[in-house]
Formats: sequence, C-alpha cells, structure tokens
Amino acid sequence: MPDRATQPVLMFDSGVGGLSVLAALRRLLPQAPVIYVADNAGLPYGGKTEAEIAARVSGLLGRMTERLRPRLVCIACNTASTIALAAVRDVLEVPIVGTVPAIKPAAAMTQTGVIGLLGTAATIRQGYVDRLEAEFAADKTLLRHGAPDLVTMAEARLRGVPVAHPAASDAALAAAAALRAMPGGDAIDTVVLACTHFPLIIDDLAAAFGPGVRFIDGADGIARRIAFLTQGQDFVRTAPDLALFTRDDPGLDALKPALSALGLDRTGVF
Ligand code: DGL
Repeated sequence: MPDRATQPVLMFDSGVGGLSVLAALRRLLPQAPVIYVADNAGLPYGGKTEAEIAARVSGLLGRMTERLRPRLVCIACNTASTIALAAVRDVLEVPIVGTVPAIKPAAAMTQTGVIGLLGTAATIRQGYVDRLEAEFAADKTLLRHGAPDLVTMAEARLRGVPVAHPAASDAALAAAAALRAMPGGDAIDTVVLACTHFPLIIDDLAAAFGPGVRFIDGADGIARRIAFLTQGQDFVRTAPDLALFTRDDPGLDALKPALSALGLDRTGVF
C-alpha cells in the first residue's frame, strides 16, 4: 500500500488548461502533492468525437491511476468531463472530481439574462450542457460558441510565444464577435469560460468583449470540492511536484517557467 500522506492529487487535462485549476488548488491546498498530466499527444480534444475522447480518457486514467496511485483524480478539462466523467467513475475506485461548465453561477450573476458560453466544439454540443441549461438557466438565454483557436492561443501564451501576435488577439476578438452576432448576443453581460484553457487568456478575452462583461469559470469550485473530499487527510511532499506529458513536448523548455510558477519543478513522459 502506498503511504497515504504522500499520495498525490492527479490533475488531468489535454494540455496546459488544467493549470488554471491547479492555480486555484494551490491557493486553497498549497501542501497537497500534485501530479499534473497533460495529454499533449491527444491535444486538442475539442475536435475529437465523443467515442474517441471517452476511450482515450478512460484508458489513460485507468493506466495512470494504477501506476501513479493518486488519492484523487481531477479531470481539469470540460471536454473530457462532460463526455467521459460517468464512464471514468464507473471504472475507477479513486474519487474523481470533474469540471462542470459554470452555468449555475452565471445564471445567478447575469443582470440582462443573456449568458455567453465559450468552450470547445465538443463541449458545447454535449447533453450535459443542455441539462445544466435546463436545470439552472431555463429562464435565461444561453448562447454557445466553440472556439478551438483560443486553446491554441493559450498553449502558445504559456510557452512564452511573444505577445506581439495580432493573430492571437484576433482569436479572442473572433470569439467575442461570434457570440455578439447571435440573436440577443449584444446583451451578453456574463461569459462562462467552459474550457480550462480560457482563464489563462482572460485579459485577451476581457479586452475583446469590452467593459460590462463578467467572466466565470469552475476552478475555485473544483478546488473547494477537492479540499472537501480530502478533509482531514495528511499531505506530505517528498519531492518537487511533477508534470507528465504523454509525448515529448518540443516546447517544454519554454513551458517550464509557467510550470515552475505552480510548483511543478519536475517533468517527465508518461
Ligand atoms: N482544456 C480542455 C477543456 O477544458 C480542452 C482543450 C482541448 O481542446 O483539448 O475543455
């Protein structure tokens, strides 16, 4: 049996998006040992089919849980969670915390009653999102847009790709314009960031939407859920926390400062 106190929290995403969730976890539980996994061999998830994502995520998390023995798994990815959370919960015994698009708090925040939702193409078409909308925002207008370019932009940004990239800002402007162009879109005052990559480029998105729009994501809620589920447990870190990739990442050196800023001072390939 592994020593309970040293067992990590395993945080999983297709890429660097889950770092926005890890940042929230660090604020709440800085003592928790973490293994962060980026399935960069599978990135982006947003363009894949439901079957591909479900098979990939269940298979990887099964193997990772066996080898890495986490105390808890956090799927820090809306695409993977909205598609595969139930399947993963069925096969793994370890507690699983998923990422749910923050439609409920957005419905409580909006004054105009019009909410924008930015996610991946795969996330925005999920029945999971339909159910959240029906349950929490039935009396609101929820406008959805899939924005894969924002994922690419966040990946580049964390690798220190120079800020002088009008194309990147264009991606944020295009996402804002697409939502604004939908019927009722000019009244959007609240935007759900339903992809964990997007809080990493919040400044670009805020500039693109302009004043009067508030953003909400699930990171703090996920961190609170992890803290709740690990209440009373001891945490002992015996080595610097680890970031694992599913294939060699040619941009890894450029990414290291962003990883180190969150205490991920070791890297490896799973
Ligand atoms: N970070 C992931 C999410 O929250 C998706 C990025 C991708 O397309 O792989 O949905």
